[in-house]
Amino acid sequence: VNPISVGLLGLGTVGSGVVKIIENHQDQLIHQVGCPVTVKKILVRDIYKERDVKVDSSLLTTNVDEVINDPGIDVIIEVMGGVEETKQHLLRALQQGKHVVTANKDLMALYGSELLAAATENGCDLFYEASVAGGIPILRTLVDGLSSDRITKMMGIVNGTTNFILTKMCKYGSAYEEVLAEAQELGYAEADPSSDVEGLDAARKMAILARLGFSMNIDLEDVQVRGITDITEEDLNYGKRLGYTMKLIGIAHREGEKVEVSVQPTFLPDSHPLASVSDEYNAVYVYGEAVGETMFYGPGAGSLPTATAVVSDLVAVMKNMRLGVNGRSAVAPQYEKKLKAPAE
Ligand code: NAP
Ligand code: HSE
Repeated sequence: VNPISVGLLGLGTVGSGVVKIIENHQDQLIHQVGCPVTVKKILVRDIYKERDVKVDSSLLTTNVDEVINDPGIDVIIEVMGGVEETKQHLLRALQQGKHVVTANKDLMALYGSELLAAATENGCDLFYEASVAGGIPILRTLVDGLSSDRITKMMGIVNGTTNFILTKMCKYGSAYEEVLAEAQELGYAEADPSSDVEGLDAARKMAILARLGFSMNIDLEDVQVRGITDITEEDLNYGKRLGYTMKLIGIAHREGEKVEVSVQPTFLPDSHPLASVSDEYNAVYVYGEAVGETMFYGPGAGSLPTATAVVSDLVAVMKNMRLGVNGRSAVAPQYEKKLKAPAE
């Protein structure tokens, strides 16, 4: 049986996890999809860099065309980050009939509709499970598991870096800068960590969740955002004394036809289920009119948890290839965008 060939854009925290899972779980992948999976080319910035995963140096390239234009590559996995240039790479890949898996929330929050339309037009799959809440399969849950319900509220901790920082500051009195550096070292933070601490990363994820959960074209600029940069140790200690824990909380709420999406630091009573979500872990609460309350919990950042979501998307692409149904996954939004005014 011919193997499925993958072109990888990026071999950093997530990309190296993807290579490890494809290698270490090869038997399971073959069992799931009936053929082997090989990584054929990998785009990096520096081919001589020391990496924590061993790959044959002949696979590495700094020329994106060698990956995207390779006719032997079936699926592009994008784990390099970036927006404008990366969007052009993925559009070109889709136009050439290559399926795409991405972990890039910046890109999907800004250009998701355009990229999904291009995927459908070209009969390709575009999956992005890893873009929200790392290892928690929350997008698939909204699109498949809860697809028959009318979701009215989603609330959660969707940024691992800020949760790690707040947890360490609150539990151990660690200094903000020190814990941020630790989160960067562990591979949780974005290349530009200001998007984590200023709440933008969580806002991107809430926009994606609201789009799928409410079937409405929510834009990133519709999300009201406040990050954790002005939170002090005194704030956290004050809350602690009163039995409250500070978390960066994203909320997406539908009332009638109107929707409101926001991200802000919030004091939760210690007894609240989200208050005990620690370190880089994420949790998303989803309320559906029929199902009632559901909650999803797991690692929100880091190499192998995120790569699990990426490689599971690859499996979904390959299953669709086997059935000949690629390009049918994107469903157009059902509702016109209607936003609730902040003061309403
Ligand atoms: P990273 O560790 O910084 O890795 C980025 C990789 O892409 C590196 O291998 C880098 O090459 C390569 N790269 C970046 N720009 C490039 C360019 N212009 N040309 C060629 N190669 C380029 O980033 P990461 O943490 O893996 O994140 C990757 C993506 O996943 C981002 O979109 C991020 O938001 C998303 N994500 C990350 C996590 C996480 O926990 N880290 C979780 C969910 C989603 P070099 O190695 O040669 O520098
Ligand atoms: N920087 C992100 C976070 C990575 O800390 O949640 C996972 O999306």
